[in-house]
Amino acid sequence: MADLDRNDIEHVLWAAGVLKDTPRPELLKNQVVASCFFEASTRTRLSFEAAVHRLGGAIVGFADGNQTSMANKGESLADSIKVIGSYAHALILRHPAAGAARLASEHTDIPVLNAGDGANEHPTQALTDLFTIHEHRGSLDELRLAVCGDLRYSRTVHSLARSLCFFRKVRLTCLAPPALSLPADLRAELENAGMSVHEANSLEDVLTDAEVLYMTRIQRERFTHKDAAPPTAPFQLTPAALHTAGPRMQVLHPLPRQEEIRPEIDTDPRAWYFQQAANGLWVRQALLALAITRDPQLHGGPGH
Ligand code: NCD
Repeated sequence: MADLDRNDIEHVLWAAGVLKDTPRPELLKNQVVASCFFEASTRTRLSFEAAVHRLGGAIVGFADGNQTSMANKGESLADSIKVIGSYAHALILRHPAAGAARLASEHTDIPVLNAGDGANEHPTQALTDLFTIHEHRGSLDELRLAVCGDLRYSRTVHSLARSLCFFRKVRLTCLAPPALSLPADLRAELENAGMSVHEANSLEDVLTDAEVLYMTRIQRERFTHKDAAPPTAPFQLTPAALHTAGPRMQVLHPLPRQEEIRPEIDTDPRAWYFQQAANGLWVRQALLALAITRDPQLHGGPGH
């Protein structure tokens, strides 16, 4: 997220809106995009790949890092990236190591899109989240956002919180079990950037005030043996709990969901998480188009 500023974010969200309204089936004609996933993925990989196909581009890559020369022949990530960079016009990378996308970008001249690096960041998801909030609310300034669940390991929360530092008077309320609270250095970074960060003790406390409730699952796969046994869904959004929320509140979730949102909520108009996942297609189309084309309409930006 640190590679973007408010103008960039607004430009991406605007371009995503343009592409949502007007399909551009030839925008990535003759462009090859490498999709390299070293970690499990459903939405991020398929929305990126569908985005490339819908824009007329071609995809190469893998969804299982275990089948690569890195896993089987001891090749370094840096060497692999150097080579892939000579085959494709852009590289989408998901990797379990924090900083992997940054490292990759230092070994190739083609644009690298971070599709999740360990527990660190997931900026294309954050942009999808911002797009979904903006679609409903019309602005990102003065947002009252509550984030709930595993705030320690949820990279989507880390990127979303960082992205909101560019907007005015954002109020962030955190609800997490003590062992899974927002990392202290991230909290300090947000507060230094002017965000007001608070902690809550129960879902009921946050529901009356939040405009957006961002739920996350417990990231069990990121627990090390040193960690205490992970709690199962310490906070659960039920129809009864949702009763206390305002009629325009948005419930977001990067998905996959576990027990933290009861399925009965899916039909409530405040449940936006499937629209949010659908919006990933437009946001990822916009990112690819801005990264690898010189399309005058999209590069002109809002107001041109
Ligand atoms: C998230 C991820 O991979 O970080 N999923 C996604 O990309 N939408 C969230 C998660 O795995 O819990």
